[in-house]
Amino acid sequence: MSESGLKDMAELVSLCKRRGIVFPSSEIYGGINACWDYGPLGVEIKKAVKDRWWKAMTDRADVEGVDAAILMHPRTWEASGHVEGFVDPLVDCKTCKGRFRADKMDVTPCVQKPSKMASACDGEKGEPRLFNLMFKTHMGPVEESAAVVYLRPETAQGIFVNFLNVQQTMRQKVPFGIAQIGKAFRNEITPGNFIFRTREFEQMEMQFFVEPGTDMEWFEKWREIRFQWHLDNGLRREKIRWHAHGPGELAHYAKAAFDIEYEFPFGWQEFEGIHNRSDFDLRRHQEFSGKRMEYIDEIKKTRYLPFVVETSAGCDRSVLVLLAEAFRKGVAEGEERVYLKLHPEIAPYKVGIFPLMKKPELTEYADKIFDGLHKKYRCTYDDGGSIGKRYRRQDEIGTPYGVTIDYDTLSNHTVTVRDRDSMAQERISAEKIADYVGEKIKNWRA
Ligand code: GAP
Repeated sequence: MSESGLKDMAELVSLCKRRGIVFPSSEIYGGINACWDYGPLGVEIKKAVKDRWWKAMTDRADVEGVDAAILMHPRTWEASGHVEGFVDPLVDCKTCKGRFRADKMDVTPCVQKPSKMASACDGEKGEPRLFNLMFKTHMGPVEESAAVVYLRPETAQGIFVNFLNVQQTMRQKVPFGIAQIGKAFRNEITPGNFIFRTREFEQMEMQFFVEPGTDMEWFEKWREIRFQWHLDNGLRREKIRWHAHGPGELAHYAKAAFDIEYEFPFGWQEFEGIHNRSDFDLRRHQEFSGKRMEYIDEIKKTRYLPFVVETSAGCDRSVLVLLAEAFRKGVAEGEERVYLKLHPEIAPYKVGIFPLMKKPELTEYADKIFDGLHKKYRCTYDDGGSIGKRYRRQDEIGTPYGVTIDYDTLSNHTVTVRDRDSMAQERISAEKIADYVGEKIKNWRA
């Protein structure tokens, strides 16, 4: 069978809608720009990604978890530099009424003439204006400036302000880390590319607090760990790469930074950043709050502000990477076949159960298999349409294994197991399905 990967994002968007993975938000009202809802299967995929990340981070004795509030004291964002510095240059076009990020006009199509990039069209452009990306709202019933609060633009600050709370209550010693998964909000000027750049998204962030001087060593360690995590999720080595931030690219807080990029149909793009944030954040919070943020090393009898190595992944963007990577299209047995080659642990269902026909003797047997197996592996049951059609439906949502119950099953208690990736079929004892699936999942490789 010949096959190709994802060439056009529209194919993935349409599959996600058709198969209950991602829907446009508020669709009955015409949708809302760049907002998306995860459907029943999408929520399972996203949860699997978060669970794998959480386990990889917090199974370590040196990483603790937190879940901080989205709304934080507004001084947090002054200290972090976001009130002053979290800005993008915005350009308005008087001709097409488009709004563009000044630094992205070479890659953003003109609204009126999409064949031309905004930088190359004849539209009359205004001067760039700085636009702060934080969403503002008001705390309490009065909309006055004293009541302004922000929706957090990154989860990291909820960790920095809790550094000593976590260190002291958990009796951790530096080096140690704090992990968090949660929503972040950015009023992006040009969101787009499906769930790649949205205004509401989830981050999976971990801040690792280290003694100054050991920061670059930890930075390298965490780069290696994070890259390997993505490979373990099933990304092909040739589809991900490092991008080192040059001096002009570094964020205001960063001493060193590397992005992990994926090759999407729309080009290489970042989906995780590893940053050496130095002691910038703790120092600034100490200054703005007036509270000492130093770590006391009881053994060395010293106190200092730790440096921080941050691993910051977008959860939605990681889901998009995994979906784009998994998308395969080809021809099999004379028909077009689309399937999602998802890691079995990330696939929404692990096994599809199919009685060959809707006959009570077959469906009763299939029901029993479903009830037994579903306790261990998330299963789906399908008895509608030809078996070929049912395989195709499961292929499109990435179900890695299909179990068919036929008349031979009734006489010799064997079933056919079909592998999503190779389409190979094997006859095995019905009693052994759980062990067989377990082994297959354990040994799966992209
Ligand atoms: N705390 C550091 C930080 O937030 P960032 O590079 O701005 O760093 C980290 O964001 C990750 O968050 C990105 O690599 C990306 O995966 C995700 N992300 C950022 N903005 C996003 C957006 N508008 N939509 C979806 N994901 C976004």
